[in-house]
Amino acid sequence: MRIAMIGTGYVGLVSGTCFSEFGIHVTGVDKDARKIDLLHQNVMPIYEPGLDELVAANVKSGRLEFTTDLKAAVKSADAVFIAVGTPSRRGDGHADLSYVYAAAEEIAQSLEGYTVIVTKSTVPVGTGDEVEKIIRKTRPDADFDVVSNPEFLREGSAINDFMRPDRVVIGTESERARAVMKQLYRVLYLIETPIVFTSRRTSELIKYAGNTFLATKITFINEIADLCEKVGADVHDVAKGIGLDGRIGKKFLHAGPGYGGSCFPKDTLALVRTARDYQAPLRIVETVVAVNDERKKRMAERIVAAAGGSVKGKTVAVLGLTFKPNTDDMRDSPSLDIVPALTAAGAVVKAFDPEGMDEARKLLPDITYCEDAYQAMDGADVLALVTEWNVFRALDFDRVKSLLKAPVIVDLRNVYEPAMMEEAGFTYTGIGRG
Ligand code: UGA
Repeated sequence: MRIAMIGTGYVGLVSGTCFSEFGIHVTGVDKDARKIDLLHQNVMPIYEPGLDELVAANVKSGRLEFTTDLKAAVKSADAVFIAVGTPSRRGDGHADLSYVYAAAEEIAQSLEGYTVIVTKSTVPVGTGDEVEKIIRKTRPDADFDVVSNPEFLREGSAINDFMRPDRVVIGTESERARAVMKQLYRVLYLIETPIVFTSRRTSELIKYAGNTFLATKITFINEIADLCEKVGADVHDVAKGIGLDGRIGKKFLHAGPGYGGSCFPKDTLALVRTARDYQAPLRIVETVVAVNDERKKRMAERIVAAAGGSVKGKTVAVLGLTFKPNTDDMRDSPSLDIVPALTAAGAVVKAFDPEGMDEARKLLPDITYCEDAYQAMDGADVLALVTEWNVFRALDFDRVKSLLKAPVIVDLRNVYEPAMMEEAGFTYTGIGRG
């Protein structure tokens, strides 16, 4: 089988590479010639653990190639995946579908023989209908079906999420398309991965409902953490105590500075907008969005409080800038609220992030970037741990104490245990560890 993957961003590159690992011939297509050039040199446009090795191996085997020539790739494909960006539209929070529709039109022009067009991009309910209309209008003679097949990849563990998913969701009413999709995911059938076949609209909604539920779960535990601080309880134990209930589940109950990234903020907002359009407002999700936004803004206050009520003229060491570890992605990262609030309050910020600093420099130009965690904390009045990278999980406390002006740590990810930190001589603040 042959597929064309339109878009070599996060979703397209990971999904395309993994499909080629499944034994399918994949052509990754992108308009950005520079990106394709880099991919030809095996330079990845994103940081994702293990991706470069997997790309190299599959290119070598001849099953994976990259091109800017959409026409040729589509012509020979049994299935064409649309994996282009759907950012939040400026102003109203709706998903911007212009890239998806432009791709649909271009694909239509090159279709030859029966082809399944698959939307992998996260798209609002009804987008598949629109894509179908565009293709039909552009090429009334074409033989095709449009299928929804959302992705559930987490940055940092995307390859594993693709190869060993909890489930695969496929939205189509066409038997013919279903057969093609089954063939593409044959390898996952062999390991008995649940495959949910449903209607196209339901599949589109599953993606949003999934992300929104997870964002709600995180926001719930974050508010419980705030309550823990007031009543003298420990959110770690609360999360464990409730998470062991199989109906609740242990995952996504880590309290922190608020969710960020390229998906949850954008998808929660887009679902809120869709629901309003259909006069079925999602009041819980609207509250989640508002609570999370406010939370990210208020995180800097904790650091200011730990520094004695003012950071004017003081130095704050910030460890971690990306929205989570194992990615270079800075989109909607809590650091983008925290760092500007600190500098606005008069602080000098020295930061280190293992992978995010190139991107961070563009967004946070007015701070000092350091070579490692210890350089960042040298002479700082307070240390703030913002992203839980593994290198920050085993800091040398004696060294930390000797470098900091005062032994003050604000741990927004609960990486450390309060009792242990106090014993080590630190004034330590976590999240919800009352
Ligand atoms: C998320 C989903 O987890 C994927 O299933 C989905 O495919 C993807 O969005 C997408 O729509 O493309 P991702 O954004 O990579 O993946 O990151 P997550 O690991 O879900 O984390 C999102 C945010 O929630 C991060 O800021 C993280 O720090 C925060 N988080 C997560 C918490 O604060 N607490 C938790 O317990 C879990």
